[in-house]
Amino acid sequence: MISLNLFELRKSRGITQSYLAEVIGCSFQTISKWETGTAVPDVKYVIALAKFFGVTTDQILGLQPLKQDYFSRMTETDEYWEDKLHYIHSSRYELWNQDYMEFLIQKVWKIEKKVDVLDFGCGNGYLAGLTMPFLPEGSTYTGIDISEVMIQDAKYPIKFICKDAYDYQKKEKYDMVVCQAFLRELSKPKKALENMIGSLKTGGMMVCIEVNRELDHAGIYIEGLDYSSILMTEIQRKYWTTELEKSDRDYAVGIRLPFLLKDLGIKNIEVRVQDKVKFANPDNKEEYDRLQGAFVSEKGWKKDNTEGDKIAVEVLMNRGLTREEAEQLTSNWGQMKEKIMNEKKAFLKTTGFLITFGRKEQI
Ligand SMILES: C[S@@+](CC[C@H](N)C(=O)[O-])C[C@H]1O[C@@H](n2cnc3c(N)ncnc32)[C@H](O)[C@@H]1O
Repeated sequence: MISLNLFELRKSRGITQSYLAEVIGCSFQTISKWETGTAVPDVKYVIALAKFFGVTTDQILGLQPLKQDYFSRMTETDEYWEDKLHYIHSSRYELWNQDYMEFLIQKVWKIEKKVDVLDFGCGNGYLAGLTMPFLPEGSTYTGIDISEVMIQDAKYPIKFICKDAYDYQKKEKYDMVVCQAFLRELSKPKKALENMIGSLKTGGMMVCIEVNRELDHAGIYIEGLDYSSILMTEIQRKYWTTELEKSDRDYAVGIRLPFLLKDLGIKNIEVRVQDKVKFANPDNKEEYDRLQGAFVSEKGWKKDNTEGDKIAVEVLMNRGLTREEAEQLTSNWGQMKEKIMNEKKAFLKTTGFLITFGRKEQI
């Protein structure tokens, strides 16, 4: 089925079907059929529509996205995070095994004396809530985040600084500088890392917990779907790499971090993998529903969302996919959605987080 971009164009110009019909020389019922995909216009009408809207015939036919120039998701601005509290709440559900953080703090990092911690891109303080119970008494925790909304939502008694991490005036005063799911959102992760290292005392420890989308993506399995139809890695990779090329937002920053930190002079670098694997078993309905909610919110899925799927195709095309690839991917998400949201099948998901840590030494 051809999916014309007619409805979007007409709405964006604020004109009625009758008005468009009059200009193009057909009936408004015909325009309605084109918009709902029950009929396809003749070539002469496609050309007339393209001329009228000032776009290409491929854009009318939906073979090119309406927004030709790549547009960034602006994830390093406070505006972007204003309405993301729901996403943060659900995606943080069962994100870590607490005992693994306890193990890291006590056995791997061997933190025995009180420490002053600074958390970059702290959001509503999730990492503070996870680590504070295991830090020695007298430790302090400070979070810095660009989003007032996130900070207002915080439940932990820590000190918050509302500031853009790029502008942060670094002073060498913290024993530990940490971040989680932060560098992935930035266009200049190296610049943020320099500020982070600048805030670290000599001998202090840097900990970056960041995703590698390839790992995260490979670690999903859904009962009743075959593995290759869940993944479509080649198509996803095309989308991710466009983001990297056009806005420097690095989908695999987690795996590149040891190299970045090495170049910035951090020593004794080690890398671990976050060990949480969520297994959603429908036999336990309450737990299943919670894990399902977290998964769906992380993916940004909505139930029966035909309009949303259309927008998704347009966005994916704007990020370098052909219409065919974009439709393949959204139909694939549709299958996953069906299994998880309607059929309530069991599923498994890893986090894809890599934990890179090392120490700042005297230069
Ligand atoms: C995915 S959230 C992670 C929040 C928290 N670390 C967690 O794991 O729950 C990314 C956070 O980075 C913050 N952020 C994005 N760009 C920023 C910037 N330039 N300076 C400071 N914070 C920023 C956002 O406001 C958001 O709270």
